[in-house]
Amino acid sequence: MEKFYITTPIYYANAEPHIGHAYTTIACDVLARYNRLKGKEVFFLTGVDEHGENIQKVAEEKGISPQDYCDQILPTFISLWKKLNISHDFFIRTTSELHKKGVSKFLTRLYQSGDIYKGKYEGFYCRRCERFFTEKELADDNHCPIHKLPVDLVEEDNYFFALSKYEDRLIAHIEANPKFIQPETRRNEIMGVLKAGLKDISISRSSVEWGIPLPFDSSQNIYVWVEALCNYITALDYYQHGDLYHKFWPASVHMMAKEIIRFHVVIWPAMLMAVEHPLPERIFAHGWMTKDGEKISKTTGNVIDIDGLIDDFGLDPFRYFFMREFSFGSDGDYTQERFETRYNADLANDLGNLLNRTLGLLGKNFETLPVPTKVGEFDAEIEEMAIQLVDQVDRLMESIAFDTVLETIFEYIRRINRYIQQTEVWSLKDDLERMGTILYNAMEGLRIVSVLLLPFMPEISVRICQQLGLGDSSQDLDSINKWGGLPSGLPIHKPSPLFPRKDASPKNKIAKDPEPVDESNLITIDKVKETDLRVCQIIGAEAVKDADRLLKVRVDLGQEQRQVIAGIAQSYEPADLIGKQVVLVANLKPAKIRGLESQGMLLAAVSKKSLSLITLDKPISNGAKVQ
Ligand code: MSP
Repeated sequence: MEKFYITTPIYYANAEPHIGHAYTTIACDVLARYNRLKGKEVFFLTGVDEHGENIQKVAEEKGISPQDYCDQILPTFISLWKKLNISHDFFIRTTSELHKKGVSKFLTRLYQSGDIYKGKYEGFYCRRCERFFTEKELADDNHCPIHKLPVDLVEEDNYFFALSKYEDRLIAHIEANPKFIQPETRRNEIMGVLKAGLKDISISRSSVEWGIPLPFDSSQNIYVWVEALCNYITALDYYQHGDLYHKFWPASVHMMAKEIIRFHVVIWPAMLMAVEHPLPERIFAHGWMTKDGEKISKTTGNVIDIDGLIDDFGLDPFRYFFMREFSFGSDGDYTQERFETRYNADLANDLGNLLNRTLGLLGKNFETLPVPTKVGEFDAEIEEMAIQLVDQVDRLMESIAFDTVLETIFEYIRRINRYIQQTEVWSLKDDLERMGTILYNAMEGLRIVSVLLLPFMPEISVRICQQLGLGDSSQDLDSINKWGGLPSGLPIHKPSPLFPRKDASPKNKIAKDPEPVDESNLITIDKVKETDLRVCQIIGAEAVKDADRLLKVRVDLGQEQRQVIAGIAQSYEPADLIGKQVVLVANLKPAKIRGLESQGMLLAAVSKKSLSLITLDKPISNGAKVQ
């Protein structure tokens, strides 16, 4: 069986995890789940980096031992990964015996390689990063380029690793293995660093107490970064050097953000070369996330409320948003508005509505899922696109382009929505064979989509599968490599909304400037009752030729369907309207607008710049009276 070994960085245990850590971990979870779907044997590793000065300092501030501090903070990581439905196979702690023994073994080998020597170190050290910077790398005024804090000029007797010796071999390896560093921008950056020349690095600290002693000189502790990098093999029980290590090493992907890539593509591979172990196959650095244009930081309070977002929108929409919204590999800025827009547009409108409409029409017209019998226009396109989609997603997953993967899947979802509209399937009551074929195709398309979405939205994927009538059957990629796998004759489920629509948060609402109520023009209740207001559902919408404000909208009133010409084109895309339940003035005398008959009027709130259709708080039968 093919194997796939993926790792997150081990996160510093000096503070609770935040969205940045969640972002990397969700990305790895998506890759782990996708590779399991492909039938590979997956080992997904995450964990915490518990040694070093920062941890020691936080523990001192709290008046407890570093080990007690680490034990206390650990559950915040474990419970967040549980909350985010992270499917890691192992969680490594660098204070564990497994890690300590493995690191000692690795350092002993490194020592035996002859590339370790004793020397004096002088350099600019950032205590927050726990690393040295060269003078050139420092920000203005001798500040750390990452934390913008002053650095210390430190002098110590240390052990050194002869990193400079590996310069040429590293360059040759990167040139021969285009996938080794990704994305391309990072590869170029690292090539620049290598070509400028490497300096040997110090691998021990005499001044840091909280760490693992060097196996060949216990008066010094191992530099925390050297020790941390070893986690990728110690977690595979490197100490025993047994089956687990041989099965999974080298790693398929080390994932991280861009600020720590140098450790992974220079120091780590050089050390592995020194002990003659294989190098990781691929090191991928994604971008940095900011919020409202600012760095995410607990100290400035600029954090994203993970619990709040999940409570309001659900876990899978949360996972979806972060994988969809930002180009993976580039920086991305989070705003609540972007979250809500993505939720409503992609999830509630495109995906949620497609499932609701399809199941709604099936439930009204069929006892069980029909056999597709009557082929017609657009069917072949829907089928061909699905097969291509599976290949495209595979290629894009291979290149770790999550946002493009999701865009491609949702393009297909929108195509099926258009198919329903183009075929006007709701009007085919007299041709149930054709209607059945179209609805079968929509359901089959949704089945394929549900499998492809599983790595991103595991719970939603199962819920779609259940609503398709497939129960809890396990999903894999083999089941979607050909069209028609959905068995006809399955029971038809009542639609249960996957993504309840959300209103924009108050801070995102557009300020209105309403006119005051005219109290000189009061009416009685009888007058109100003269207007017959009914709930109706939009089942079709299209632009009206040569009229940029008008849409031709088809609505379902329960007992009948109507056509309404509505002046809403500047506020709504036709595809976004499908499935919405809105309010119709049902007893308005029909009128011709631009030569088209309009049988009623849709109610909308209007302010200076915007228009918002009156929709319902919860679903109700079409045709219900509004009073
Ligand atoms: N302990 C080291 C890693 C050792 S790995 C052998 C470390 N820890 S960290 O807690 O600072 O985690 C850094 C990683 O967390 C980043 O590389 C990235 O994966 C994730 N992120 C933290 N903040 C982030 C953002 N604001 N945006 C995106 N990812 C971020 O470095």
